[in-house]
Amino acid sequence: MADDFDVVIIGGGPGGYNAAIRAGQLGLKVACVEKRKTLGGTCLNVGCIPSKALLHASEMFEHAGKDFAGLGIKVTPELDLPQMHKQKDESVGGLTKGVEFLFKKNKVEWIKGAGAIAAPGQVTVKGEDGSERTLSAKNVVIATGSEPSKLPGVEVDQKRIVDSTGALALSPVPKKLVVIGAGVIGLELGSVWRRLGSEVEVVEFLDRTIPGADGEVATAFQRSLTKQGVKFRLSTKVTGAKAAKDGVVLTVEPVAGGAPEAITADVVLVAVGRRPFTDGLGLETVGVKTDPRGFVETDHYKTNVPGVWAVGDVTHGPMLAHKAEDEAVACIELIAGKAGHVNYDIIPSVIYTTPEVAWVGKTEEDLKKAGIAYKVGKFPFTANARAKVNHEAEGFVKVLADAKTDRVLGVHMIGPEVSEMVGEYCVAMEFSAASEDVARTCHPHPTRSEALRQAAMGVEGWTMQA
Ligand code: FAD
Ligand code: NAI
Repeated sequence: MADDFDVVIIGGGPGGYNAAIRAGQLGLKVACVEKRKTLGGTCLNVGCIPSKALLHASEMFEHAGKDFAGLGIKVTPELDLPQMHKQKDESVGGLTKGVEFLFKKNKVEWIKGAGAIAAPGQVTVKGEDGSERTLSAKNVVIATGSEPSKLPGVEVDQKRIVDSTGALALSPVPKKLVVIGAGVIGLELGSVWRRLGSEVEVVEFLDRTIPGADGEVATAFQRSLTKQGVKFRLSTKVTGAKAAKDGVVLTVEPVAGGAPEAITADVVLVAVGRRPFTDGLGLETVGVKTDPRGFVETDHYKTNVPGVWAVGDVTHGPMLAHKAEDEAVACIELIAGKAGHVNYDIIPSVIYTTPEVAWVGKTEEDLKKAGIAYKVGKFPFTANARAKVNHEAEGFVKVLADAKTDRVLGVHMIGPEVSEMVGEYCVAMEFSAASEDVARTCHPHPTRSEALRQAAMGVEGWTMQA
């Protein structure tokens, strides 16, 4: 006999676990099927959390070696890579256990194994031990996430040629690391290993880095990383890679045509994007529609099949944990008869490097393309007291506001800890703020957040410093 549920969620990442917890809070009978040994999905196990743990630790290492002396602190740091990995693994372990605790607290049943949709309203779960269980569900939520995209001719072995998962566990520090793809993963994990001693070269197909970010910020970011020692080969395609015991030979050629070239590396990181993961899910059994790239098609999280929903990386939109989380909550609220909603215009993006990059809303390129007249307010961190006393004065804040109404349309930041500041503009934009609203809001002194206000003042040309 099948176990009956109001909602069965397949996948225990930020999409799945937030959906499960919200369902539990709303009193629905809910199960979450996850095949990994731990909850938390890509984000907690092999994504956001371990990458940020290594970014933080490697940043401290670099500060200790390069910046402490200037503050009057003499130290000679020594890398203990096993301990750096251990503290990362402990953070991951603590947070995945935290999700398990929240499941218990909210009466979510975690069903361990691989889930598949067997028929309308029916999910089968295969355990690692070969056991099988059938669940009947009024609603099924697909939250199976994504996996790294593959590059033809470059086979990942997680030793010499790695994807992000392999790059989070490298040991020893590779002498030379070649990164394919100047996107978020390539530049975050490239930064980690450069700080720990690798020579890092990035090969990118396009003529720019971090596609999707504001062009002026991307240019400043590339300049900064170049100053730190990262080499870039833009407009270059990788045509093949050969891994041997002691290294990799990569063949590359200019996108515009030209002579192929060989690059050698100790390790190659393939970071050319991610694709939706639906293997073995049985979408075909009930006819759930996907687009040509494999993303599950949805309208307000509903697929074309009644009672089957999808959230997170497996469906359209930015592949970000907070986007998955917001969709999860909205989807469950709709299932529970409430008014679930996500504002896709206000989903922030962050790159956790040094300097950090953060933005929300439209870029200048977006506004030009849409023919929207806008004003720009800009403020450099060199004129911000807190950034200056901390000797971290690189970067700027740029506010884009509608030329007629003054409504804030986009904010772009590069600089120290901007990841922690972009949320202020998310709130302002949710309340449809004008740049003047931010410009006339008192901010504490001395803080970096004053740069946010000064940039807003710049829209009407009354910035006080600089
Ligand atoms: P996932 O987290 O991928 O979870 C899907 C889960 O479903 C997995 O646990 C999988 O095992 C399970 N599953 C799949 N199929 C089945 C099945 N048939 N049965 C049972 N279980 C199944 N995003 C940010 O916002 N900030 C960051 O700083 C950030 N850093 C990242 C760093 C790296 C290196 C990577 C790779 C990603 C990063 N991301 C970041 C992206 C973020 O991890 C994803 O957007 C997020 O995890 C998506 O959540 P999800 O629930 O949709 O999918
Ligand atoms: P990405 O889309 O950010 O970048 C991939 C890069 O690879 C692009 O610049 C692309 O032009 C380039 N590329 C594609 N094919 C190529 C080829 N054949 N040769 C050379 N370059 C090629 O994808 P990435 O970095 O793999 O990250 C995947 C996703 O994970 C991101 O889109 C993001 O959603 C998420 N993520 C988010 C983080 C954050 O929020 N801080 C951190 C890490 C990942």
